[in-house]
Amino acid sequence: MTVPPLDAEIASGLRLRTLTPDDASLLVEATATEPGRAVWGPYPVGPYTPAEAREALQAWTGDQTSFALLDDTRLLAAFGLMREADDIAELAYWVPPPHRRHGYATRGLRFLAEWSLSAGGLRRVWLEIEPANTASRSVADGAGFRYERRIRDHCRNPETGAPHDCLIYAKP
Ligand SMILES: CC(C)(COP(=O)(O)OP(=O)(O)OC[C@H]1O[C@@H](n2cnc3c(N)ncnc32)[C@H](O)[C@@H]1OP(=O)(O)O)[C@@H](O)C(=O)NCCC(=O)NCCS
Repeated sequence: MTVPPLDAEIASGLRLRTLTPDDASLLVEATATEPGRAVWGPYPVGPYTPAEAREALQAWTGDQTSFALLDDTRLLAAFGLMREADDIAELAYWVPPPHRRHGYATRGLRFLAEWSLSAGGLRRVWLEIEPANTASRSVADGAGFRYERRIRDHCRNPETGAPHDCLIYAKP
């Protein structure tokens, strides 16, 4: 079962929709000011080239789907949905640096989680958050996720591969 496409106006002027490889230029613009690692796979530290953006979006197919919160022209927040079985999935999020602290991650995550559990056909969604990532923990709380537990050495640093603890938040 694949997750159906999403395209919804979640507030006036704010649209949340599934991303496709044709959205590469949005991703290039969105990553242009990112000094750290963005959410799409092994790519990259810093901005994506058009080819990297297209390749990254192409990799988000099948069990993995990416979504964007958009205004008329810009990507304001990006979300990933990674299915681990037919009816359960991990969600992840990233906001381009210039658009942080405007509530975009929280609003988009709240909508995406509720949609995943209804139209998306999932029965459980969860987040895996580094304990030190206070911004991400606030997003989880604000989007109505429930803190479940801390798992020792469950996550890996994407650059070094070193294991670290993870906090699990879930819905319902
Ligand atoms: C984490 C991240 C997605 C937050 O996005 P955002 O759109 O700025 O978040 P919001 O504006 O919805 O803010 C949500 C809450 O986090 C708080 N917050 C946001 N950035 C913060 C920061 N740098 N330090 C402390 N608190 C922060 C906000 O004040 C808000 O708190 P409130 O609900 O109590 O008012 C963004 O900083 C980011 O992309 N970081 C890099 C990638 C990442 O860490 N992804 C999550 C992996 S689990």
